[in-house]
Amino acid sequence: MTIFINAVRNSAGRLIIALLPNTDALFMSLLDRSLAAVWHPCTQMKQHEQQPLIAIARGEGPWLFDSDGKRYLDAVSSWWVNLFGHCNAHINQRLREQLEKLEHVMLAGFTHEPVVRLSEKLSALTGGALGHAFYASDGASATEIALKMSLHYWRNSGRGSKDRFVCLAGSYHGETVGALAVTDIALFRDAYAPLVRAADTVPSPDARTAEAGESAVDVARRAAAILEAWLIDNHERTAALIVEPLVQCATGMAMYDPEYLRLARALCDKYEVHLIADEIAVGCGRTGTFFACEQSGIWPDFICLSKGISGGYLPLSLVLSRDSIYQAFYADDVSRGFLHSHSYTGNPLACTAALATLEIFEHENVLARNAERAASMRAAAQPLAEHPCVKHLRQQGMILAFDVSGASSGFARRYGDAAREAGVLLRPIGNTVYWMPPYVLDEAEFSLLGKVSLDALQVSL
Ligand SMILES: Cc1ncc(COP(=O)(O)O)c(C=O)c1O
Repeated sequence: MTIFINAVRNSAGRLIIALLPNTDALFMSLLDRSLAAVWHPCTQMKQHEQQPLIAIARGEGPWLFDSDGKRYLDAVSSWWVNLFGHCNAHINQRLREQLEKLEHVMLAGFTHEPVVRLSEKLSALTGGALGHAFYASDGASATEIALKMSLHYWRNSGRGSKDRFVCLAGSYHGETVGALAVTDIALFRDAYAPLVRAADTVPSPDARTAEAGESAVDVARRAAAILEAWLIDNHERTAALIVEPLVQCATGMAMYDPEYLRLARALCDKYEVHLIADEIAVGCGRTGTFFACEQSGIWPDFICLSKGISGGYLPLSLVLSRDSIYQAFYADDVSRGFLHSHSYTGNPLACTAALATLEIFEHENVLARNAERAASMRAAAQPLAEHPCVKHLRQQGMILAFDVSGASSGFARRYGDAAREAGVLLRPIGNTVYWMPPYVLDEAEFSLLGKVSLDALQVSL
């Protein structure tokens, strides 16, 4: 008799794993097995008593297909990672080729072509201003690396008192303990307060906070003036300011003027504080330029990248830094080195997916075509702009968002459910609805996105 591992409900009605004989009557759905065997991320699991999981069987372009064949337009790029559609033929091909050569080798003491080529290309994309790519797997690890490198730089430079960080109000830089220290979202941070050495926060230059008669640039200048006042008092104990350039995504797509980055760069220079640009969500063309920082004409001391860099295929993150930072670690003394590592650092498959992603950028003139796509996206949102409950409709490149006023509690869930029912994947953040689709939608798909977003609003207020 064949024995299957399966999920069953115990006498209390909870799903548990059990070994079962192959009896069809006892066989449970993939969804129940998932609830019994998997702890899903960023989820109060009990909510799945009301809201079923969706089992995705395959993807194609911007579409995901569930196991019943129903399709969903992935308007959030699967948590902001997918750039060129699911199962992209070019990335698939490059991965197949690499699979036949080398799946993985440790990066300490060894190197390989994909990691070298990728590092060279990324440095070239900064015009050589930053380089020496240091690799990890998830975005939060890149945040940790940048924080540790900054602090260790100051220590190696004989200024060990510079051991604190400052971030923007509402910032999000990941969920690991170090990253939570610079994440200003209470729901994610408060439960772990005893573990977290929280950074200081300064006001966000969020353009929505404009007072009567103020422009987005004015808001940026006002926020930068407060940053300067803070730095005057605190720069001697501060290693770095960390920012999400142009769009603070996880707090609800707060967008701000590039002027803030220009001013922050100048202030960081003046007060000898590093500037860390967390481009994990906004890098790789999301805001219109490859790096969001380019729009303010500055380079930070560190850039963190992840999510889109592998085209949404494989976990890959990295930190680029200025040569002066690298040089501060270069010494005979081992302890002055950056002794940080992850087992999968620089994984050849992930680097190959990233190289294939950058090839698409080069060969398909993606940034120019995205300017047209961004215009289509804006046009598709026009009917929403006219809705009386839609406030602060805003856009930065391939990110569009609006706030919904007058919505009752549970709006985000109701809205997401209604959109999903109509075949579009949207996950509002509180009362903010946003679109962050892969760079492959055609006009019909943008129209669908606009229509479903409006219809979902009518039924979920
Ligand atoms: C700006 C920013 N930083 C860091 C992270 C964390 O990345 P990961 O979820 O891959 O750890 C995210 C994730 O959404 C992010 O948006």
